[in-house]
Amino acid sequence: MVEYLKIVHARGRQVLDSRGNPTVEATVTVRNCVDGELTEGSAIVPTSAGTGEYEAVELRDHSAAFWGKGVGTAAENIEKYLQEPLAGTEVTDQRRIDHILMETDGTEDKSRLGANVLLGVSLACADAAAKALHTPLYRYLGGVQGQVMPTPMMNILNGGAHASNALDVQEFMIVPVGAGSICEGIQWCCEIYHTLKKILSDRGLATDVGDEGGFAPRLSTEMEAIDFIMEAIRAAGFMPGRDVCISLDVAANTWRRNGNNDYCMPKQKRCYSTEELIQEWEDLADKYPVFSLEDALGADDWEGWRELTRRLGKKTLLVGDALFATNPKRLKQGIKKEAANAILIKPGQIGTLSQTMEAVQLAKENGYRTILSHRSGESEDSFIADLAVALNTGLIKTGAPSRGERTAKYNQLLRIEEELYGVKVSAHGNPERSDNSFLNE
Ligand code: PGA
Ligand code: ZN
Repeated sequence: MVEYLKIVHARGRQVLDSRGNPTVEATVTVRNCVDGELTEGSAIVPTSAGTGEYEAVELRDHSAAFWGKGVGTAAENIEKYLQEPLAGTEVTDQRRIDHILMETDGTEDKSRLGANVLLGVSLACADAAAKALHTPLYRYLGGVQGQVMPTPMMNILNGGAHASNALDVQEFMIVPVGAGSICEGIQWCCEIYHTLKKILSDRGLATDVGDEGGFAPRLSTEMEAIDFIMEAIRAAGFMPGRDVCISLDVAANTWRRNGNNDYCMPKQKRCYSTEELIQEWEDLADKYPVFSLEDALGADDWEGWRELTRRLGKKTLLVGDALFATNPKRLKQGIKKEAANAILIKPGQIGTLSQTMEAVQLAKENGYRTILSHRSGESEDSFIADLAVALNTGLIKTGAPSRGERTAKYNQLLRIEEELYGVKVSAHGNPERSDNSFLNE
């Protein structure tokens, strides 16, 4: 390997996520072997409302008195344990870097040093490489091939663990399937978001927002929420199904399974068997233009997933989040069992950039759609916007067009689109860049 940009220093610090909880920021310094110039790259790791069973381990300090969930020690471990093995490594050799990170940790689930710590370093290396090469991050990561602007899946109404209302479905999203550019897609979503705000407020409902920026009104059923969104889509001048579809993240892994009834909604307390829940989703997809259903069943219900996919998979994206945990091994299991037809990609679930890329590659080879995703606890770091373009994931889920940590990603996508396609993007000029092909099949 040619020696050009060598890692000379790696360190970590505790910073804040969007919920006021501590998270890891990693900083990596590289030296240009030709001119000696030093460049620093960094990354802030997102956090979850509750990491899934199959995710790599997020390490927090048990002893931290203040905040209770500090990451100060975990972050210090970057300098203590990772700097030396990484020093001298070519920063563009991402696979080698990630291999060193995994070897140094030495556990399958990254529980010794923490997936949050490893991911921070992994992403900071990519950021440092891009900066040292004076190349935009998306282009460094994707080369000339990474150029598909993803269609946004915007979460405009929050429930579940992300809001303190009575809704058990975690996310209600809108997907501008008919938009010809990210710029147009974001604009449509914003118009619907503001229309929804007005509709809610006219009915005397609260319009303050949940963890991902969507409204969190005190509605009593999921159907009510969906009907409000449908009303907002129409009132904003769009045709549901043609211009804009809806998507749900059920996060059914949080619907505890017990006794005879497999799934019980934690807030509304309604219980379903797997078969009854599949029937609910089928009825929903018959009635509404449902683009995707994420974690519509629990992460161990393989037989249920297989049946759901058989019944709905031709017209709806069935997305595995907790199910696959961005883990190529879990995805392989799913492919074999014909479970789901799309995967949510969250780098933090697996803990390195290389393994994230491997999951995307594997999904694509097997006809699974890929959705790059933020987490409920985010920061101003917009790495995933660049990564979505670089990997041509086609779809991105990064919250409402509100709260700085969410708009950071949308704003970065707007910049990238402008750079790749110019400011005057014609709405329907380039069909390859819109991602509505799935529904037109
Ligand atoms: P999390 O949830 O980031 O809180 O894990 C987001 C999601 O379920 O997609
Ligand atoms: Zn999810």
